[in-house]
Amino acid sequence: MKKIILAQPLINISDAKKNLNSVLKSNFINEGNKTGNFEKKICKLLNVKYAVATTSGTVALFLALKAAGIRNGDEVIVPNISFPATANAVTMSGGKVILVDVNPSNLLIDDKSLLKKINRKTKFIIPVHVSGRGGNIKKILEICKKKSIKVIEDAAEALGSKIQGKNLGSFGVAGCFSLAPNKIITSGQGGIVVTNNSELFKRLKRLKNQGREGPTTGGEDKYISIGYNFKFTNLQSSLALSQLKNINWRIKRLKEIYKFYLNNLNQNKNFKIIKFNLKDGELPLWIDVWCLKRNRLFNFLKKKNIICRYYWKPINTCKPYKSSFKGLLNSKKLQEKMMWLPSSLDMSIKDQKKVCEKINLFFSKMR
Ligand SMILES: Cc1ncc(COP(=O)(O)O)c(C=O)c1O
Repeated sequence: MKKIILAQPLINISDAKKNLNSVLKSNFINEGNKTGNFEKKICKLLNVKYAVATTSGTVALFLALKAAGIRNGDEVIVPNISFPATANAVTMSGGKVILVDVNPSNLLIDDKSLLKKINRKTKFIIPVHVSGRGGNIKKILEICKKKSIKVIEDAAEALGSKIQGKNLGSFGVAGCFSLAPNKIITSGQGGIVVTNNSELFKRLKRLKNQGREGPTTGGEDKYISIGYNFKFTNLQSSLALSQLKNINWRIKRLKEIYKFYLNNLNQNKNFKIIKFNLKDGELPLWIDVWCLKRNRLFNFLKKKNIICRYYWKPINTCKPYKSSFKGLLNSKKLQEKMMWLPSSLDMSIKDQKKVCEKINLFFSKMR
């Protein structure tokens, strides 16, 4: 029996081959013109001035923090419900992770909890646009503006998602995206930082390429700062470009999948879909649900070859960030109650119907 899974890449092999072949024929497989082309297309899509492609979403966050001037020991506020990558990028850059609680209705940073965590040492806040939601971004910007705190958006899951006509990732000083295989487009692994700030852009370019100013020339390069090697190759760019071609269709598909679940799943006191604001422009990358008997439902579905995904454990329960749930009680309540439903771009109506039928059956027996 076919497995229905959370998400998988959707690659048109003939388009991808054409793009890859042109890179292979040129014999320039390192970062080059294709990468520049990919970055330009991202700027156009997101209506931003600058985009810098890099090796992963985690590295995108790390580079953004470094380029925005993080110093050792600076406090960086991160939501307690996120992929640990968000916190790890802060630790990698020398910052101190301060965990903040989330709002259970949208899984985003809870602004009342946020105000309690801000102090003189707070230099950055990283709102995470979980599954493509970003409804709190304006409120966060308002709070940060008053306190001179920089906002770096973790938009790893939010490429193509908007709030009131403006793309998520373009609100803060920088926005960071992931191109891992479960995202709307993928390059195997990869990431992008976007910004409208030309100085930040120059620093990002230097940091990802050994501190070099301008393109790599060979012997004549100027190394004006420290830097790393986080280049994004023409090979990766050609794969990503082949999917960017039909991004509007991908966006439409994700909305259809969400609407189908919303119309066909029976929500009740034991089972709820976490809503997206489609009218505002939020794009559902994955469908997140809250359920009372999550582990039982997960195993029930697994036996029917429907493979869901448990939500991340709250970051404060992970070994490197272990701390009490004091001030993090919403995340404590969400623990072991959340999971993602299969949300693949190429999911058929038949498969979606099957998922809905089985979930409805499970909860009809529970009542
Ligand atoms: C919320 C969030 N932040 C950061 C990342 C890190 O991205 P990457 O896996 O590309 O390093 C991910 C990855 O999926 C993510 O979901």
